[in-house]
Amino acid sequence: MKKICVITGAAGGLGFGCAKIMAEKYKLLISDVNKEKLDQAVSELRDKGYEAEGILVDVSDRSQVKAMAEKAKGMGTIASVIHLAGLTGLYGEPARIFRVNAMGVININEEFYNVLESGSAIMDICSSVAYLMPRDRWPIDLFKLARKEDKEEFFNKMVSFFLDGNPEKPQGMAYTWSRCFIYWYLMDCTFKFGQKGIRLVSTAPGVVETEMSKQDLAKSGSLEARLSYVAMGNRMGTIDEAAFLISTLVDERNSYLTGIIVPLDGGEIASGFKGQRTPRNEADF
Ligand SMILES: NC(=O)c1ccc[n+]([C@@H]2O[C@H](COP(=O)([O-])OP(=O)(O)OC[C@H]3O[C@@H](n4cnc5c(N)ncnc54)[C@H](O)[C@@H]3O)[C@@H](O)[C@H]2O)c1
Repeated sequence: MKKICVITGAAGGLGFGCAKIMAEKYKLLISDVNKEKLDQAVSELRDKGYEAEGILVDVSDRSQVKAMAEKAKGMGTIASVIHLAGLTGLYGEPARIFRVNAMGVININEEFYNVLESGSAIMDICSSVAYLMPRDRWPIDLFKLARKEDKEEFFNKMVSFFLDGNPEKPQGMAYTWSRCFIYWYLMDCTFKFGQKGIRLVSTAPGVVETEMSKQDLAKSGSLEARLSYVAMGNRMGTIDEAAFLISTLVDERNSYLTGIIVPLDGGEIASGFKGQRTPRNEADF
């Protein structure tokens, strides 16, 4: 009997790309907050002969994530959770961006910790922005509040932190800090999850070509500058390249791989890209 792979943000570019690869080997439970696109994704997968069920989930809502985890458990043995649902830095209200990206990861990790068995893996999506923000600026004491049972103090203090410190670019900073938090949080959870045989992996994409990233870069006007640093042909990464990496990271044969975030940026950061607002601290590397 096929094991289960859960994918969040599966109606999006990277999510659907991962769904097509993972469906070759696993029965899928795919989720998104966009019902129309989710239904379309489920139909397309079933039309290709794959086994896929859909569930409408807002990952920032703990009770909905819990229901998804329980549904997945009821479907069989869960091999992996690929968590891609997220908002970019140029759209929406800053607190909402942080709630979806940062609280979403907490909800996914904590609820799936309760249902996953040894040998499984969670992939939490990060971003290359986490590599661009110097570590000595990370508010680790605030990040540590996420360890508490009640997460609202963490959320409220983080929102105050990025709104007070950066009134001009609040969405961008909400995004950046959400991704830095995910980097820290993945490391923080690794030992506890490892004791149960659950691996935690992540990738930090630079620019992977999806509808979202194209709109995002068109709005910021930074595409040309970004691509000039990409070692691999001055181009964006493709959905297939990202989906292949993610499917490899969660693959059960990678049973010793955990607590790792793999950049997927075509060498952009290594080639000297420093970001627009957050110069790289060479000492970090
Ligand atoms: N494409 C890139 O270059 C890139 C780079 C770095 C990080 N990322 C991250 O990778 C992930 C996927 O990126 P993409 O390019 O496929 O974006 P996308 O916008 O196509 O996909 C994201 C999906 O998440 C869903 N979503 C949004 N809020 C949600 C919520 N509260 N609950 C559940 N689902 C929700 C959206 O409906 C969408 O289908 C995102 O988290 C993005 O921030 C992408």
